[in-house]
Amino acid sequence: MSSHSSSSAASSRSRVLPTAAAEGIAIASDLASLSALLTREGFIAAAEESQQLLTFAGGDGGLLDAAVRRRLTGEPLAWITGRVSFCGIDVRVDPDVYVPRWLSEPVASRAVERLPRDGCAIDLCTGSGAIAKVLATHRPRARVLASDVARAAVACATANGVEVYHGDLFAPLPRDLEHRVDVVVGVVPYVPTPELPLLQRDTFTFETTLSYDGGDDGTRVLRRVLRDSPRFLKPGGALLLELGGDQAVLLADDLTHLGYVNVTVLADEDGDVRGIETTFRGDGVQPLSRSAGGP
Ligand SMILES: C[S@@+](CC[C@H](N)C(=O)[O-])C[C@H]1O[C@@H](n2cnc3c(N)ncnc32)[C@H](O)[C@@H]1O
Repeated sequence: MSSHSSSSAASSRSRVLPTAAAEGIAIASDLASLSALLTREGFIAAAEESQQLLTFAGGDGGLLDAAVRRRLTGEPLAWITGRVSFCGIDVRVDPDVYVPRWLSEPVASRAVERLPRDGCAIDLCTGSGAIAKVLATHRPRARVLASDVARAAVACATANGVEVYHGDLFAPLPRDLEHRVDVVVGVVPYVPTPELPLLQRDTFTFETTLSYDGGDDGTRVLRRVLRDSPRFLKPGGALLLELGGDQAVLLADDLTHLGYVNVTVLADEDGDVRGIETTFRGDGVQPLSRSAGGP
């Protein structure tokens, strides 16, 4: 989701076709013609999207026509088909819910690696519940909980079978989990406010800034998670957060002061920073403050 990246799934098209223009277009029902149409209209992953639209329509011409017209307005594909594949797992995605991105998959995969078979994990800012669902699928005996502040997200994550709580970060989670959690993972909002206009131009035609806005330097929510995670993590527990750009450097002092060790910066094959993985040492170091900097 980061503006640090130009390659997220959200960036799969380059311009919005206004609804009126979409209405005047003839919608073909074969892969080649549909792909050509989407390519002409600026969709970068035209062939892949065409295949998904055709599969979704299942031979129903009316359904295909309506779906393509919605897509031509820039509406996210997953909102139209209602599904996305994340870490190879089918995830339901409802309208108004953040669409999980492939660039979050490495953080999710590392969270699976760090979660013991009978362990406990928290997926903060869960959205559709994609990461929680991946964790639960790979660790069926573990307890996996999640939270999100958006009601549409909570409903969607629930439909994905996730134990999800409505509210701000850790606030709605059961208190009996304190100091018993093996993994805290989150794709929290981390785009610096000044960079929001750099996101794909149709992003905020359909979405709000709630999923993206991380404050001045993008670290406002990330810092809150660093500060509050020690209340829930066991000694030796893992914290995995998606972030980008120089944010790992910006967080270095907080990580040290709050008792995190073995900080690893996760990068993709192009060398772009995608996240951090760290371990909570848990030797009595407590959060500096529980209330400062709240939402
Ligand atoms: C970037 S999306 C990530 C969703 C999901 N983790 C994924 O990767 O698909 C961020 C999510 O954080 C939620 N959110 C934003 N601020 C929050 C807060 N303070 N507490 C809980 N959830 C929050 C939004 O509603 C949104 O669903």
